[in-house]
Amino acid sequence: MINKEQLLEALQPLVEPHYNKSVVELNLVRDVMFKDNNVSLSLIVTTEDEAFKEKAKVYIQQTLEKLGIAQVHIRFRLMTDYERNQIKDAVQPAAEKKTQPIQPPIEQPILGEASTVEFIAVASGKGGVGKSTVTVNLAVALARQGKKVGIIDADIYGFSIPDMMGIEEQPKLVDNVIMPVEKFGVKVISMGFFVQDNAPVVWRGPMLGKMLRNFFNEVNWGDVEYILLDLPPGTGDVALDVHQLIPQSKEVIVTTPHATAAFVAARAGAMAIQTNHEILGIVENMSYYECKDGSIDYVFGKGGGARLADDLHSELLAQIPLGAPDNHVSEIDYSPSVYKSDSKAGQIYLDMAASIITKLEQ
Ligand SMILES: Nc1ncnc2c1ncn2[C@@H]1O[C@H](COP(=O)(O)OP(=O)(O)OP(=O)(O)O)[C@@H](O)[C@H]1O
Ligand SMILES: [Mg+2]
Repeated sequence: MINKEQLLEALQPLVEPHYNKSVVELNLVRDVMFKDNNVSLSLIVTTEDEAFKEKAKVYIQQTLEKLGIAQVHIRFRLMTDYERNQIKDAVQPAAEKKTQPIQPPIEQPILGEASTVEFIAVASGKGGVGKSTVTVNLAVALARQGKKVGIIDADIYGFSIPDMMGIEEQPKLVDNVIMPVEKFGVKVISMGFFVQDNAPVVWRGPMLGKMLRNFFNEVNWGDVEYILLDLPPGTGDVALDVHQLIPQSKEVIVTTPHATAAFVAARAGAMAIQTNHEILGIVENMSYYECKDGSIDYVFGKGGGARLADDLHSELLAQIPLGAPDNHVSEIDYSPSVYKSDSKAGQIYLDMAASIITKLEQ
């Protein structure tokens, strides 16, 4: 099995037509990931030149197959303006470079290397354990602590954030840039805003990746400090895309207390470790039910979160009890899934937000 350096070495001869230089020298080959005998990578292109894309695809596939790779998955991504500026600077002859002042990028892209945004992806091994609930409430709790927060609903097929937060507005377009919708001090973007009448999303993989990128690049996030990503369940394509798109992202892993759930969640943890994402901690959701007489009933078993934290050498950030928020449809700011700050669960989320802030800002 070859490694990344050998792969890049092999792709040296592929020349990017616009700059007339090797794609490797221009650092256009990104996100190289090996899995079993397969490779996935992104190739940054300067224009949507289909002929070059086709040529590059065939070249990369043939070259890597010769090196024993079974399957090559290539994603093409158009170069951003920021990258274009950077590359212009890098490929100019030195003499010319001195005469030109370096142009700062017009707007700080949240994905760029200069970005100071803290990304927190909320993941789980399986569905229905409360990722979206945790995303929403952790985001609201961070905002309640005075942080500037955004949510990217990366569950493109199964978006749920707008409904959970009771958002009825649509995002507005200002100067051709999408403005996220704000509720409870949290800026939100979701596929749900762009789908009519709750129609199912039936796109294929490459379109999904594109949409996700748009959520980063085509949205005016302003000066957010934290962006939470609600991932779809499991360790599929979107989770992988997120890992590649935001290598600096940290993760929170959600599980229920049941041993099997924690075992499945460990897979999401393993993926985070494989892709070098720091695990901030584990959230055990639906941990127990507090009966009216104050006694505790461990409806779904006990200990899953602690064991998972142990397995992943991480910590158990919070144990959230069973119980829907005590909200009423008649309230002005009605939202089905956001706990009030003075409720028990609301307080637990506030504590969790505080410990995450300490962890990340110390
Ligand atoms: N602590 C809790 N107490 C009671 N109900 C909860 C709790 N946490 C989540 N739920 C409910 O459980 C259901 C699943 O939660 P949620 O949608 O957040 O899970 P998910 O992991 O995001 O699911 P999916 O994998 O489908 O995206 C929702 O109806 C939610 O309201
Ligand atoms: Mg969800």
